[in-house]
Amino acid sequence: MDAREQREMSKSVIPFNRPYSTGFELANIQQAYENGMLSGDGPFSQQCETWLKSYANVEMALVTHSCTGALEMAALLLGLKPGDEIIMPSYTFVSTANAFALRGATPVFVDIRADTLNIDENLIEAAITKKTRAICIVHYAGVACEMDVIMDIAQKYSLKVVEDAAHAIGAQYKGQPLGGIGDFGTLSFHETKNLTCGHGGALLIRDKKWTQRAEIIHQKGTDRRSFGRNEVDRYTWQDIGSSFLLGELSAAFLITQLEHMVQINEQRHALWTHYNEALKPLEVKGWIKRPTVPQGCSHNAHMYYILLNPRFNRRAVLKELLDAGIKAVFHYIPLHTAPAGQKHARQSGDLSVTNECANRVIRLPLWTNMPSVHIGFIVDNLEKILKLHTKR
Ligand SMILES: Cc1ncc(COP(=O)(O)O)c(C=O)c1O
Repeated sequence: MDAREQREMSKSVIPFNRPYSTGFELANIQQAYENGMLSGDGPFSQQCETWLKSYANVEMALVTHSCTGALEMAALLLGLKPGDEIIMPSYTFVSTANAFALRGATPVFVDIRADTLNIDENLIEAAITKKTRAICIVHYAGVACEMDVIMDIAQKYSLKVVEDAAHAIGAQYKGQPLGGIGDFGTLSFHETKNLTCGHGGALLIRDKKWTQRAEIIHQKGTDRRSFGRNEVDRYTWQDIGSSFLLGELSAAFLITQLEHMVQINEQRHALWTHYNEALKPLEVKGWIKRPTVPQGCSHNAHMYYILLNPRFNRRAVLKELLDAGIKAVFHYIPLHTAPAGQKHARQSGDLSVTNECANRVIRLPLWTNMPSVHIGFIVDNLEKILKLHTKR
């Protein structure tokens, strides 16, 4: 282990993320144990689903082991077959594309907007072919895509819309919760997200026509839920499906986080705003670009990212931040540049904004209850580092 790694391990580094606890999780886990139902689909899972259904104003919410699982369920529900095409950004996590590639469908990558890093809604129509079945959008950093335009295109060409709202719990577009606008919405409760249970997710379903089949796919392709409601006297294999449930211990953890969503997101907003104000002088100098939140979008302060001026060497800046005791990170490697992206997907048009932004993004530490003094320290150090770089 080198000195830098040792420093990181010795906790003298401000971590990039630290999962938050409301203080009520352990009592709930004890209760789940006493309930004697740990595998999933128990009372805590039901509480989470009731909460999510009402929050997103949808017909059904199913808690899953991950957002990846929820995306895979959406792909199964769409009944995709090899050759079908799904339009999406390349600037996203692998699961967005993988879920559809697993069904044999082809992700078709469209460029993103330079202001929000969300799919460029004006490029979607040009990517539509006879094989297009759906548009899967990603609300990057919990800032909504231009949903009115996207829903209009979907309606015009009879396409389905999947909202990958992995980042976006608590965020809204024109007053509507993200994940509840398209045909399907998927949420993540991974430890890096605003609300977490370690590893978890949810599928939100807007229309009743999908719900019966969704329950079956969720329960390994069986009608076990109907059996649980005494609608059938045994459960049997009905359809293809998989083991998508969230374990009940995780659901017991998650419900407390859902119930504290407003407070958690408020806390994060205060930190986000603090960053945004403290970083303004660096933007004025032209060293960075701060995030843009378009009108009508109320975001959830999921992450604070900056776009570094391309004159700076990002790798060197990240290393120097770490040397100063700050763990900042970058993501995503655009999927069209990755080996599986080249094998299983294709691109529509030029992806130059994706390529450029992906090389410039830096995500700064932000977690619920992060001491706000960290922000002063982080911004001061970033400024010092960039100033030194301008002189090189
Ligand atoms: C946009 C996006 N979609 C999907 C996922 C997958 O989420 P999970 O880890 O819950 O499977 C992630 C993970 O961070 C993500 O960033």
